[in-house]
Amino acid sequence: MSKKKIILSGMRPTGKLHIGHYVGALENWVSLQEEYQNYHLIADYHVLTTNLDTSNIFEDTIEMAIDWIACGINPEKSPIFRQSKVKYHTELFLIFSMLITKARLEKNPSLKEQVKALNLPTITYGHLGYPVLQAADILLYKGELVPVGEDQVPHIEITRQIADFFNQKYQLPEGKLIFPVPNPKLTNFARLPGLDGKMKMSKSLGNTILISDTPDDVKTKMKKAFTDPEKLRKGDPGNPDICLVYTYHKKFNPSGSEEIKAGCKSGSLGCFDCKMKVSEKIIDFFAPVNEKRKELEKDKNSVLDILVEGEKKASYIASNTMSEVHQSMKIG
Ligand code: TRP
Repeated sequence: MSKKKIILSGMRPTGKLHIGHYVGALENWVSLQEEYQNYHLIADYHVLTTNLDTSNIFEDTIEMAIDWIACGINPEKSPIFRQSKVKYHTELFLIFSMLITKARLEKNPSLKEQVKALNLPTITYGHLGYPVLQAADILLYKGELVPVGEDQVPHIEITRQIADFFNQKYQLPEGKLIFPVPNPKLTNFARLPGLDGKMKMSKSLGNTILISDTPDDVKTKMKKAFTDPEKLRKGDPGNPDICLVYTYHKKFNPSGSEEIKAGCKSGSLGCFDCKMKVSEKIIDFFAPVNEKRKELEKDKNSVLDILVEGEKKASYIASNTMSEVHQSMKIG
């Protein structure tokens, strides 16, 4: 039997997830579980790069883990763990930070975009090192594939560069290399637009539908969704290709989306009805997830136990990798 390839996926714990997280990442993670050995990292130290307020980090971590599990991540097969609980991440981060130049990190387009988006007047040493910590996250588990969106590809480039440089510089006896040079694994569904029509659903933009939203929440939020501004009332023909509600139909109502398109174009379908139809589909889609969610919410201690279990497994793998690093470098 050939060994399963290793996937390392991660998210920063930002609390309850939205349906954009599901479509853009989680759904993909779940479908990869059988074919690959997956590790699911909760990147809590990465949160500090843009937010030093840690008062909700524990709650946010548990809520995110609940969403992961409720959506179908099986922690027995694919450990879920907090970065901050596996101390090797910080050690490998320190070593890797010696292997990459400041100029290279400053050139990273993902970082530039983030600095611009958040309007940061300056950047911390740790924030500049964001992709170096991410490289440690991936390589500690010898991750070969990393499921990410387009925007994260430059980060993975830096991981590749670090892995390659380390391998050239330090080896085990007989020249055995320690690290794979990982590849990004792009998600296939384009990201879900926000309710305001912006490209991306995001907590900070306040344009999200949460996985955990109640049926009423979903409908109330959907009513305010932005649609084709030329279509003012039922009867007016609309352009579904510029309407985010139609994108939601394509995802959550695939078999009915042609009918929606035709109805929108001809004008026979009004925006309100169209929105209520897709709301029902979204509600039905996430109903089983929310059943599971409710059970997990009732017993948050058992969720914490799942993380602690994942952290044991992750620590075991990470400590083996670090032993090799120490041996090859003759330090540590
Ligand atoms: N950068 C990822 C994000 O913004 C989080 C992350 C941290 C990550 N370490 C990782 C993703 C390792 C994949 C692999 O969500």
